[in-house]
Amino acid sequence: MCCKENHGEKNGIWEKYEIIEQKNEKENEIVANNIIIYYSRKGENYCNGSIKNLSKGNTEIVAEFIQKAVGGDLFEVETVKEYAADYYACIDEAKNELREQARPELKKYLDSIADYDNIFVCGPCWWGTFPMAVFTQLERLDFTGKKVMAVMTHEGSGLGSCERDLKKICKGAVFGKGLAVHGADAAKSESTVAAWAKQSV
Ligand SMILES: Cc1cc2nc3c(=O)[nH]c(=O)nc-3n(C[C@H](O)[C@H](O)[C@H](O)COP(=O)(O)O)c2cc1C
Repeated sequence: MCCKENHGEKNGIWEKYEIIEQKNEKENEIVANNIIIYYSRKGENYCNGSIKNLSKGNTEIVAEFIQKAVGGDLFEVETVKEYAADYYACIDEAKNELREQARPELKKYLDSIADYDNIFVCGPCWWGTFPMAVFTQLERLDFTGKKVMAVMTHEGSGLGSCERDLKKICKGAVFGKGLAVHGADAAKSESTVAAWAKQSV
């Protein structure tokens, strides 16, 4: 009753109180200003010296760990033309695309990262760098004032040249420390990934 009366007043106490409450709620809100852009390929892959069939890609696993640790939106880079499920055929396709600096067409595009401060760019190591499809997406975005972190899953090459390659494309960004995750250990990497992600934002 008291609240209703005050709420009804133009400059009443309740009205003021309500405004303060809203502000506090906003201040306490966890604002997810992170986006995790990733490419990951299911199917045959090379894991610890043998070919395995992955139902979920290694990088996808890591991308989800980042989201779980620091929040944010996930954006999956998906090509219109799928790569071969066969590992060796895919190796050849990727080599040709790298040689040609191809920019494969994507199923959907992220048009803007204006709403985000921290951009995690995640992908598998393909011949030492990200799959060309990652660059198809990144080249469409304005990175001015953004913080970018590279994440690469790999079978021995670590981050390869991906940080150097990102720096050429993400103009105007500042770069956080990158993270290399051994692909075969992706499922066991949650604590390492979470600790790194929390330090990165
Ligand atoms: C086309 C292709 C190229 C690869 N090139 C490399 C490489 O140069 N260095 C490396 O350490 N691993 C390489 N790998 C292994 C992948 O980087 C590794 O398995 C990765 O974790 C796969 O991630 P994904 O399951 O998210 O696609 C390659 C794999 C594929 C399919």
